[in-house]
Amino acid sequence: MPTDFDTTKAQFVLPEGIIYLDGNSLGPLPKAAAARVARTVEAEWGQMLITGWNKAGWMDQPARIGDRIGRLIGAEPGTVVMGDTLSIKVYQALASALEMNPTRRVILSDTGNFPSDLYMADGLVRTLGNGYSLRTVAPEDVLDAIDDTVAVTMITEVDYRTGRRHDMGAITAKAHAMGALSVWDLAHSAGALPVDLAGVGADFAVGCTYKYLNSGPGGPAFIYVAPRHADAARPALSGWLGHEAPFAFDLDYRPGRGIERMRVGTPPVLQLAALEAAMDIWDGVDMADLRARSLALTDRFIAGVEGACPDLTLATPRDHARRGSQVSFRHPEGYAIMQALIAAGVIGDFRAPDILRFGFTPLYIGFDEVDRAVDILARIMATGAWDRPEFKTRAKVT
Ligand SMILES: Cc1ncc(COP(=O)(O)O)c(C=O)c1O
Repeated sequence: MPTDFDTTKAQFVLPEGIIYLDGNSLGPLPKAAAARVARTVEAEWGQMLITGWNKAGWMDQPARIGDRIGRLIGAEPGTVVMGDTLSIKVYQALASALEMNPTRRVILSDTGNFPSDLYMADGLVRTLGNGYSLRTVAPEDVLDAIDDTVAVTMITEVDYRTGRRHDMGAITAKAHAMGALSVWDLAHSAGALPVDLAGVGADFAVGCTYKYLNSGPGGPAFIYVAPRHADAARPALSGWLGHEAPFAFDLDYRPGRGIERMRVGTPPVLQLAALEAAMDIWDGVDMADLRARSLALTDRFIAGVEGACPDLTLATPRDHARRGSQVSFRHPEGYAIMQALIAAGVIGDFRAPDILRFGFTPLYIGFDEVDRAVDILARIMATGAWDRPEFKTRAKVT
């Protein structure tokens, strides 16, 4: 049965008068999440107290939800687990992968990667010392830069600024051919487009849930380890909940079985309750339908803006295969233009130095919203309504 996007849209709280094109940064509230969190707070925490860890299944929640995300990213059952933030999971995956390739010292990434990934890698190589280094190349040079010195590739599939998409299959295959392992950051992929981790043979993957998966601000991250590595990878962050028997309280660390070893400490039960409600919406969604609609929405937005706003320059590849589910335009006054748009009810965001970023999330955005957003943007550009002092003062979060 084809995915019914009217039904998915009806399951979100979408404030009146707002066109929300920022679900690539923070997804909106699923209607069921508030009640689900309230139930977890009142009936579980309130009434069960500490027995909730067993009675309400809190202890199994990270793997249970991990499997539901696994379906969206082409992961085998039992290979994904929730916890911590994405930056932490990047560090963990990277450290584990490096240790599995002990004769090599280079992490390869690209200059389009999200800074936190690069910062975490830099912190890790400083901690390791011993000749480890982070090498960054231009995004289009990644494939050629994979040589026999590279221990691990650390690549974000979809660029947070431009929406450009790497070829995950080709990069993973080249990494393997050169004797390297791959770590994929799926922050802008999970819930945005079909991912086939098992199919491409990825080694590790990580991602967040507050963007396209709608878990709410501060929602936990996920980590994937390929089944062939799951019982060999040392978790690097060896917390008690990744131990084989946390409640044996042994003094020595023994990694748990499979993906369970990638857990670190106590899971965020309330955020996971919100995420569990959000994941119910995905049950009726076919990822191929989602992708087809995302491409149709982004094509329509690109055509509309290019037709009406000659001063904006497209920063996103036109080629379907090379883009994610966001569209970015450049303009030297991008920040002020975005503030004017937000004041007019179209919410996107701005990324330095000059990027206006618009996320297209088929679960709750349709063609009507695209057309209205184009009209409002065209009016702001034609009238210069953005050129006002109040739109030029930078807020803490852009
Ligand atoms: C690609 C990418 N990696 C890492 C992060 C950092 O995630 P967190 O703040 O959850 O650690 C983000 C945040 O937006 C991101 O987009």
